[in-house]
Amino acid sequence: MTSSDNKHLGAGAVTTGWGVGLPPTIVTNADLEARLDTSDEWITERTGIKQRHIGGTTAELAIMAGKEALESAGLLPEDIDILLLATTTPDERVPGTSATVQNALGITGGAFDLNAACSGFVYSLVVAHGLIGIGAKRILLIGSETLSSITNMDERTLAVVIGDGAAGIVLEATEGPGELLSWDLGADGSLKHLLYCDHGGYLFMDGKEVFRRAVRIIVNSAQNALNKVGIRSEDIDLFVPHQANARIVEAARERLGISPEKAMVTIDRYGNTSSSSIPLALVAAIQEGKLKKGDIVLLSGFGAGMTWGSALLRFGG
Ligand code: ACO
Repeated sequence: MTSSDNKHLGAGAVTTGWGVGLPPTIVTNADLEARLDTSDEWITERTGIKQRHIGGTTAELAIMAGKEALESAGLLPEDIDILLLATTTPDERVPGTSATVQNALGITGGAFDLNAACSGFVYSLVVAHGLIGIGAKRILLIGSETLSSITNMDERTLAVVIGDGAAGIVLEATEGPGELLSWDLGADGSLKHLLYCDHGGYLFMDGKEVFRRAVRIIVNSAQNALNKVGIRSEDIDLFVPHQANARIVEAARERLGISPEKAMVTIDRYGNTSSSSIPLALVAAIQEGKLKKGDIVLLSGFGAGMTWGSALLRFGG
């Protein structure tokens, strides 16, 4: 259930571009208050969320994020060897949503979806670095989700926590050491009953139980990644965790011994966007000047499966 050691990292890769795709409709806590038995006070206190974007399809949002990421990297679609789309809300059962995105963007390389729920971006990042280790040169990696499409929006428990959105990065092979210092991926399928969605059904979550386990899971996974390379939590410049609940982020940050200003929190503006939440927070950090070349960044996610994963980066190599 745990990752092997990271001693055999091959050719390196660095992030050279980034972008986001958000549906234009913003739903505030006041909007939800008006139609559900809930309150801004409850949502803010229990989750940290103030608003979320809702709408679009997983492909539409991924296309927006992908276009912006390619532009920011100064690349053409045909420069991309592989499009990797992390999603737990594909638009169709078959084919993968990556097929629609590949075609719309004009990418000529391979394309596939990866579903590891809210850990999907971290899993995909590790896979992308692996692909570069065996010869891929440029990968477009996007997390895109429309959780509103599998959520009963008339039921307050989940309707207040979820959001839709996408964000992506371009990873390019580099001469020197890449930015991935270490990684940790894990899963425990005996816990799948805590968070699931059957075909055609709505998302179910045992929120209390997921909450109870989430902090321990993130902390263990983060410590595994840190221990592999002997980096201490005090050396981390930025902690970018999955944004499921501000209280989970806060508890994990505290247990890891990371100071408050080093934790990136975007749940207030986006809600829980599953595999998009880490890249959305990462791109926000870059755009807000909170992340610069050479910084040590810890990404940690957890979610349905249950799955979890951490990636420790020296950003930009
Ligand atoms: N508005 C107002 N009151 C509410 C709401 C709401 N939206 N939802 C629940 N309540 C009430 C409940 O009825 C309950 O009332 P009672 O005490 O009178 O019985 C009270 O608030 C507490 O309810 P809980 O369900 O215990 O609320 P909790 O504090 O656990 O918060 C939440 C719920 C936010 C979902 C939390 O459990 C959580 O964040 N869990 C983890 C989520 C997570 O990490 N998910 C992982 C990935 S998500 C994904 O994959 C999509």
